[in-house]
Amino acid sequence: MNKLTIRDADVAGKRVFVRVDFNVPLADGKITDDSRIRAAIPTINLLLQRGARVILASHLGRPDGKVQDGLRLRPVGERLTQLLRRHVPVTGDALGVGTEDAIKRLRSGEVLLLENLRFHAEEEKNDPGFAATLASYADIYVNDAFGTAHRAHASTVGIAKFLPSYAGLLMEREIEMLSRLLETPERPFAAILGGAKVSDKIKVIDHLLTKVDMLVLGGGMANTFLLAQGKAVGKSLAEPDRVEDARRILATAEANGVRVVLPVDVIVAKEVTRGTEYKTLLAEKIPASWHIVDLGKASQDLMVDALSDAKTVFWNGPLGVFEIPSFAHGTRAVARMLADRADKGATVVVGGGDSVAAVTQEGLADRMTHISTGGGASLEFLEGRDLPGVTVLPDRPAVGAKA
Ligand code: 3PG
Repeated sequence: MNKLTIRDADVAGKRVFVRVDFNVPLADGKITDDSRIRAAIPTINLLLQRGARVILASHLGRPDGKVQDGLRLRPVGERLTQLLRRHVPVTGDALGVGTEDAIKRLRSGEVLLLENLRFHAEEEKNDPGFAATLASYADIYVNDAFGTAHRAHASTVGIAKFLPSYAGLLMEREIEMLSRLLETPERPFAAILGGAKVSDKIKVIDHLLTKVDMLVLGGGMANTFLLAQGKAVGKSLAEPDRVEDARRILATAEANGVRVVLPVDVIVAKEVTRGTEYKTLLAEKIPASWHIVDLGKASQDLMVDALSDAKTVFWNGPLGVFEIPSFAHGTRAVARMLADRADKGATVVVGGGDSVAAVTQEGLADRMTHISTGGGASLEFLEGRDLPGVTVLPDRPAVGAKA
């Protein structure tokens, strides 16, 4: 990565504003997956070790410019306090006199977390005044929020115009790992794409078709490809208005020599609910009143076999309705197989909330080469698009260039 990082910055005694992505899933006020918080710890620790005064800032959810008590960052502050083994207070608001005072009192080696930035509509509007106020808190800006780098907001883009800016260590690792997929993948390179809708993935598939050797498709989005092959999918989730796109993708794959692996058998269920009746059928002709909810055993075996010599794999999206345990077998089988591939030296990158959750639930996260903290951001990156939160960070000067 050719961006300046916090390793290049002199942070001792300085106030450092660190944009992190602590947009974590919550249930009943409790964090159900703290991966994004853990992923920011190396940056925070490095800054603390170097004597910085660390001001953390994040959004949580989509409160649309209004205070929502359920989206306060207090649970995140508590989790950070545990992980950093030092107290991390959360301000009552991202703006205001109380916050300014807390920032003035902050000493070297201390951390403060600002309240949810999106309680202010100016954040998502990339309002220059709001960005200037955030910038006034600090001497240096660090962006470690890879998961939000596809948003041009005040704390991801606007603020960088006011302060010397650097990428954090997570941002650096994400860009390096995802760039490696696009630029120098060891071959064979396979992409496994799942999730509900193909419409969300068309751009990334189009771009990956110029990069990969194999495309493995599952989940609801594969049903649209089954339709494109003239197969019936019953009541399954599908997007008939995207069948033409699916046909085009299949034709491009063939022209590019990319092998496409689709389900050959599937689990079908009467309803998409727990405790419903279900059975395995060939994916040739699904009866009108049934829903496809998971890969069948033959599909799992086919995919495991197809991926058995892959040297690089990117996976985004579950391959069935994995939140219902009876329909999680395909997703779990692929997760286990990928951990084995990674153990044998393949580069395995997993991105996107649900596939990451599946890997984490299986206890396999540590065995993967890289778990991306970006869902939308990693897909946009792999579409070949520039992410505004990355573009705005200064490049490392070319060797030999005058300062
Ligand atoms: C994410 O979870 O993808 C990021 O935190 C961005 O959140 P957003 O989609 O609400 O902008």
